[in-house]
Amino acid sequence: MSRGSSNQVFELIFGLLELHGFHTVDAQASIIGVTPTTINNWRTGKVKALNRGKLDEVIQRVHFLSKRRGVDLVGEPSLCPIVIEEGAGPADLERQLREKWDSVYLGHKFLYYHPAGAMAWKQLLDTGYGSDLLAKGFAAAFDAALDPRVAGERSSLAGLLRWSEGKSCGIDLIGLGPGDGAKEALAIQLLIARAGPKHRLIDWLTYTPVDVSIPLLRMASEQARNLIRDRLPKESWPHFLVRPSCSDFEDGNMGFCGHLSDNPGDRRLALFLGGTFGNLKSEARFVERALGRLLRRGDMLWLEVGVRQARIEDDGLFALSKGQLRDTQETVRRSLVEGPHRRFRASVGAPLDTRMRIIPREGGATCEVPGSYNFVHDVDINPSGQRCSVMYSRRYEIDALRGWLADHGYETRFEQRSKDARGRDRTAHLLLFRARD
Ligand SMILES: C[S@@+](CC[C@H](N)C(=O)[O-])C[C@H]1O[C@@H](n2cnc3c(N)ncnc32)[C@H](O)[C@@H]1O
Repeated sequence: MSRGSSNQVFELIFGLLELHGFHTVDAQASIIGVTPTTINNWRTGKVKALNRGKLDEVIQRVHFLSKRRGVDLVGEPSLCPIVIEEGAGPADLERQLREKWDSVYLGHKFLYYHPAGAMAWKQLLDTGYGSDLLAKGFAAAFDAALDPRVAGERSSLAGLLRWSEGKSCGIDLIGLGPGDGAKEALAIQLLIARAGPKHRLIDWLTYTPVDVSIPLLRMASEQARNLIRDRLPKESWPHFLVRPSCSDFEDGNMGFCGHLSDNPGDRRLALFLGGTFGNLKSEARFVERALGRLLRRGDMLWLEVGVRQARIEDDGLFALSKGQLRDTQETVRRSLVEGPHRRFRASVGAPLDTRMRIIPREGGATCEVPGSYNFVHDVDINPSGQRCSVMYSRRYEIDALRGWLADHGYETRFEQRSKDARGRDRTAHLLLFRARD
């Protein structure tokens, strides 16, 4: 598209200014800091070239326009400020909690947004939750998926990224609810390692952690930024960007999708790890609404879900549902699950007594994926026994889940299990390919 200039350098300058929203002669003159007559002279060819000093000034000004919008172009290395989307900030969640505290269902997003909730989650990871084992299981599965010899030429992650054809691409890596982000950082590390010497298979990689918990979002972002800083030479930093978004992927607008590349040659890979899929209020709504916006045909979802045990009694949560174990893990789980109601009641001067109960539930409205089993975490919210379901924790029969996902347009290209300390399948990793719009 011609912008009225016969000179490509001026075309470039005007093109960039337009992309930044400065369309008119007056707007371009004021943002560059010259007169409208000068802009007209650049456009009409009356001025044929800029002197070195003026060109440097224009370059600096265009660079400043990006920095001014918060995009850290070559920072230490490339960590953007957290964007807080409408409806997803701490005050929004606090307001929603106040509106919903005595409803039948609250929702797991309320567990983590408060710093005390984020700390309780970190504590849970440290108290025998098996997070190290789960992280190792994820890394092994991700590495295997990246290897065409293990996962198959067409099905491997390398194949889906078109690396197997020797092609490079830009990667939008999205972490949905990364928590502390340890596994997401491992994924970046493995992508870098597998992309080969000098990382020529990755044109650019933007990691977008998405979470309503600002303390956890910070942890996840810094962990990824540190990894990039420590693993890559300085010249490669600008190819990598961490762009955290405080957004609600269940009820929010998913505004961060507007920052992802639309180029069909680039790939989006969303990581939804650690059983959070099983915490959702409705899996179908999430797949249709959130993933519908996030992923295009040909993009990928990496899903980690809790596996349903052959004997449900073998699940750790089953024992907890049958009585109090009184171990540290239970205490921390209680403080995480009861936290939102405790904090709310403290703020209105009501008695603090709350009690978490886990109700095993098979079938029914909260188990929309065939074969799934739900450990519903309830809290008593008043002395008359009124209860609120704070969190669902579902386990899945993996073949049935794969069938359900296929019906929703997602083909499973790779599957691997993570074991617990007793050698039982604890979580399953599925690499899913969005096969239709
Ligand atoms: C179970 S925790 C972290 C799981 C983590 N992926 C792992 O593997 O350990 C769930 C995370 O999802 C976030 N989360 C829950 N609901 C959310 C929502 N609706 N929108 C954005 N983040 C949400 C929480 O703040 C928390 O960080």
